Amino acid sequence: MIDKVRQIVVTSALPYANGPIHIGHMLEYVQTDIWVRFQKMRGHECVYVCADDAHGTPIMLRAKAEGITPEVLIDKMNREHLSDFTDFGVDFDNFHSTHSPENKTFAEEIYLKLKAAGHVRTQVISQAYDPKAEMFLPDRFIKGECPSCGTADQYGDNCESCGATYSPTDLKNAVSVVTGETPIEKDSEQYFFKLSDFEDMLKTWTRAGHIQKEIANKMDEWLEDGLRDWDISRNAPYWGFEIPDAPGKYFYVWLDAPIGYMASFKNWCDKNNASFDDYWKLDSHTELHHFIGKDIARFHTLFWPAMLEGAGYRKPTAVYCHGFLTVDGQKMSKSRGTFIKARTYLEHLNPEYLRYYFAAKLSSGVDDIDLNLEDFSARVNSDLVGKVVNIASRCAGFINKNFGARLSASIGDNKLSQQALAAADSIASAYENREYSRAMREIMALADKANQFIDEKQPWVIVKDIERQAEVHETCTIGINCFRQLIILLKPVLPKVAEQAEAFLNVDPLDWNDLDNDLLDHPINKFKPLMTRIDKVLIERMVESSKEAAVEEKKLTTQPSSDTQSSSTEVTSIEPIADEINYDDFAKLDLRVAHIIDAKAVEKSNKLLQLTLDIGFETRTVFAGISSAYEPDQLIGKQVIMVANLAPRKMRFGVSEGMVLCAGSDDDGLFVLHPDNGAKPGMRVS
Ligand code: MSP
Ligand code: ZN
Repeated sequence: MIDKVRQIVVTSALPYANGPIHIGHMLEYVQTDIWVRFQKMRGHECVYVCADDAHGTPIMLRAKAEGITPEVLIDKMNREHLSDFTDFGVDFDNFHSTHSPENKTFAEEIYLKLKAAGHVRTQVISQAYDPKAEMFLPDRFIKGECPSCGTADQYGDNCESCGATYSPTDLKNAVSVVTGETPIEKDSEQYFFKLSDFEDMLKTWTRAGHIQKEIANKMDEWLEDGLRDWDISRNAPYWGFEIPDAPGKYFYVWLDAPIGYMASFKNWCDKNNASFDDYWKLDSHTELHHFIGKDIARFHTLFWPAMLEGAGYRKPTAVYCHGFLTVDGQKMSKSRGTFIKARTYLEHLNPEYLRYYFAAKLSSGVDDIDLNLEDFSARVNSDLVGKVVNIASRCAGFINKNFGARLSASIGDNKLSQQALAAADSIASAYENREYSRAMREIMALADKANQFIDEKQPWVIVKDIERQAEVHETCTIGINCFRQLIILLKPVLPKVAEQAEAFLNVDPLDWNDLDNDLLDHPINKFKPLMTRIDKVLIERMVESSKEAAVEEKKLTTQPSSDTQSSSTEVTSIEPIADEINYDDFAKLDLRVAHIIDAKAVEKSNKLLQLTLDIGFETRTVFAGISSAYEPDQLIGKQVIMVANLAPRKMRFGVSEGMVLCAGSDDDGLFVLHPDNGAKPGMRVS
């Protein structure tokens, strides 16, 4: 079916090793994985490589905060990331690390080649320095008041309130995020990559069909503004590769990060006896496709092609940018529980639901993509469960019960198959061009036709007529064959469902080529539902767990340590007064005095304490998120106020039977409320 076997290397951006994979990342890996699976199904040689981006200051500081070495941190992250990807069906041919021998070799080689060709220069520059931590500070590790509008607590690069951009030295009352000290200015020599040497090449490359037009327009702006040389070095202490001829200087993480694509590929070649040079040499006939988010376009469309050109390697065939994932129309938010980690998602829901939803929303553009949680379950339930799986479940029973689990030997002139076949090219080109939403629409239109066909034929009616058994057999065989075609068309998106369908159909792994032959006179297996409807409760639980997980995660990300934080008495977040209620609303609350008879830490939770409360007539167990503010021992014997008629809530660690009243918040500190002396357990509070 294909004219010529293409040799394709595909990458997704290398995720930072300083944090977990979340569903925003997953948008990209699913987008890429669908493309790769499609290419492989078409018979092309496609190698999908990725790696953890394991260098840089945030990783160094996070390791320090956890009291472990960066090596231990990145190893742990590498395992976690890979298992998240694997469980989401993202099937890398190789998942490596930028902290690898291959990457060190390539980074040094490329740097030395660039230098030898005169593309590297040095310059003494002045940068913010934390005298207490004895380190230079990246922009994101300095906070202060915006020089433009005065808003407090802004990072060193731009203001979240007014949008001004500036350098960290412009911030007023700046402090180091690492120690809380006032940064000083310090001179040091740095290495710069002369990007301007590649201006002509980049101007041509931009318009040669390698990037989307939106990105090409952006690049024109950058090119018009003039290309500034790029600082590729950092001073010790830094977690990365030391620059070969510059002791105490390290490659900036973004220098060796894209080189990590090559390193991962080299590692794959060594394991698979393939020729690295065939793919990366200057005039290679192979293809190189990078999938990235729009936030990192500049690194992939300016610096990366220039580095490759300067070091004598081939340049990318294509760089594809996607937009950002929002949830319910807003940026993912920890407090709303929409900052959903891949692992949290997996604990509650089938990954193929989300793969399908992403596919149904993704186009080749750079627009943001919204995961609307209502729409998500509606869409999956109606399309996958209601349309696709339904075809098989409507037909399989008859084949199994009435026809000895064997498909009929002929199906006459099967219009449905022909329709699917006629649509296949258009669907293939939609996949090829990353127009997945169009592919899903066209596939669902075919599913609609199959369901209509079954509706019209009414096999459940004619099966009662002894004369018309052959017709039922044929109808259901057509239905099963149509289902099989839909599974082939959906296989890049739903690999697990496809695998189960193959088991049910009793066939070898399906390929694109299998679209044009029908399965006849063939034994099938018992049908098990391939996918069940999404229960809303599962989504609610996932959002709840995400709220809990976010609080635990927060403690591990580097924040100014509390002993050096300014001792402000201000409340950082003033909550507006909630909507007015009437007395009856208030009276619904049953508040009681409770006596804490036991308190203990909850294993594996940084947030919760398990409290045993005596409320006079009974004992309750309550999980309270106050371990940041209290040691268990401090609480035993105290009296508190609890909500006694709150519906029990099942949490990861047990059932919580109420709530203890508390002032403040995680950010401002938590303060448990106590009744005055003399109150007795069980007294109603009103
Ligand atoms: N380490 C760099 C990439 C180096 S590539 C040589 C990096 N890492 S990241 O972990 O922050 O992001 C990895 C990829 O996930 C990026 O392409 C980024 O755009 C994408 N996404 C991160 N958050 C995202 C969303 N909320 N939505 C969609 N994509 C997102 O950048
Ligand atoms: Zn501002």
